Amino acid sequence: MDRIRIKGGNRLKGEIPISGAKNSALKLMAASLLTDEPVTLKNMPRLADIEAMSDLLMQFGMNMNIRRGAGLGQSDTMRLHAAKIESAFAPYDIVRKMRASFQVLGPLLARHGEAKISLPGGCAIGARPVDFHLKGFEAMGASIELADGYVLASAKGGLKGTTFEFPFASVGATENLMTGAVLAEGRTVLKNCAREPETQDLGNFLIAMGAKISGLGTSEIVIDGVDRLSGATYSVMPDRIETGTYMIATAIAGGDVELVGAQASSNGALIAMLEKIGTEVKETNRGLSVHRNGVRPSAMDVKTDVFPAFPTDLQAQYMALMSIANGTSHIRETVFENRFMHVPEMARMGAKIHVDGDVATVTGVETLKGAPVMATDLRASVSLVLAGLVAEGETIVNRVYHLDRGFERLEEKLSGVGAEIERQQA
Ligand code: EPZ
Repeated sequence: MDRIRIKGGNRLKGEIPISGAKNSALKLMAASLLTDEPVTLKNMPRLADIEAMSDLLMQFGMNMNIRRGAGLGQSDTMRLHAAKIESAFAPYDIVRKMRASFQVLGPLLARHGEAKISLPGGCAIGARPVDFHLKGFEAMGASIELADGYVLASAKGGLKGTTFEFPFASVGATENLMTGAVLAEGRTVLKNCAREPETQDLGNFLIAMGAKISGLGTSEIVIDGVDRLSGATYSVMPDRIETGTYMIATAIAGGDVELVGAQASSNGALIAMLEKIGTEVKETNRGLSVHRNGVRPSAMDVKTDVFPAFPTDLQAQYMALMSIANGTSHIRETVFENRFMHVPEMARMGAKIHVDGDVATVTGVETLKGAPVMATDLRASVSLVLAGLVAEGETIVNRVYHLDRGFERLEEKLSGVGAEIERQQA
C-alpha cells in the first residue's frame, strides 16, 4: 500500500491551486439523476470518492464522460446523462465505502418513485445514522422499510410537499430532502436546515436545472416542486476544507503561500482564528495569500459547530497546529462523537494532548518528532501530514487511500511550495 514520506522543517513558499469541493461535487453528481437531459460539471476534483460515486451512478444507467485537465490546477469536466433510470439499487459494497452514496435516495425517489439503498452503517468518526433523512422522506409521503441492512423506499404516486423540521441541521439530510422536494407535488418547507456553502452550491445547481428554491444559506429553505428539470452546465465551488488545510499548513510550517481559486467567504471562522494567533490572511485577485513568519503561533480554544462556525472537517488540522503552539488550548468537537482518532498518532510524534469526552486539551510543545503514523479517516490523515511538515526528521503516513479520497495531488501541491514530501509506492 502506498505511503507518504515527509521530512519536516521546510518553510513553504509559492502558490497552490485549490480544487473543486469534494463535498459539493459528490452531491451535484447524485442530483444529476434528476433529469433525463445531459449535465456538465466543471471544476471537478480528481479523487477516489468521485470515482466511487461514478461507479454507483453507472449502476443506475448514468452515461458518463470525463475530459481530464492537463496538469496541476487544470480541473476535470464531467458530462453526466441519465436518459433513463435502469435500476435504483445501491449495493452495500459501494455505500459502505462512501457515505455520500446515500445522497442518491432523494433523486431516485423523486424521479423513479422507488429505491433500494444500503444503510451506510457506522464509520470511524461516529455512528452517523440516517434517521433524519428517512423521517423527512416519510413526511413527504414515501413509505420506508428497513430489511437486511437496506432501505426500501417507495413513493409511487410521487413525493408530496410538506413542512419538516430537522432535529439537527444535518448537511446530508438537508441536501437529500432538497433533491427530493424539487420534483415533489406542491411546496416543501424545510426548517433548521444546514447552511453549509456546499448545500448552497447544490441548491444553486438545482436552480440552474430549473428548480424553484428560496432561502438557500438560511435555516429555512422553501421549495416549490416542478414537473421536470432540465440539463445544466455548472462549475463546482472551490474546496473550503482543502483551502483551510493549506492555510493551516502555512501556519504550521511558516512561509508565504497564495491559494489560487480559494474563497474567503466560506472560510471566515478559520481566517478569524488564524489572524488571532499570528498568521496573516489576505484576499488577492486570484484567491487568498497566507503568511506567517518564524514566530510560534499562540494557543487558542476552538469549538466545532455547523456553518458558519468552525468546521469539524478542519478540527484535526487545527489540532496539529495547536500541538506546536505557545500555550494550552481546548478543542471541543460538537458535530461528531468520535472524531479524535488522530490524537494517539499525534502523541506518537510528541504532541501533548489529553481527551476528556468531547474536549481535547492540547499543551503546545516546541518541537514534534517524525514517526510512522496512520489514521482512519481523511481529515485525520491530513492532520498527520501537517504535523510531519514541522516535525524533526522523517514522518511516514500510512494508509494513503484515505488521503486520496479527499485531497487531490496532495504531495505535488505541497512539494510545489517547497515541502519535502513524496509518495512511496508499496
Ligand atoms: C457531511 O457529512 C460531510 N460529508 C462531512 O465531511 C462533514 O464532516 C459533515 O457534513 C459536517 O459538516 C459530505 O458532505 C459527503 P451531517 P454528513 O448529516 O452529511 C448526525 C469529510 O471528511 N445525524 O451534517 O454525514 C450525525 O451522526 C466528511 O469530508 C443524525 O443523527 O453530516 C452527526 O453527528 C466527514 N441523523 C451530525 O448529525 C441523521 O439522519 C452531523 O451530520 C443525519 C445526521
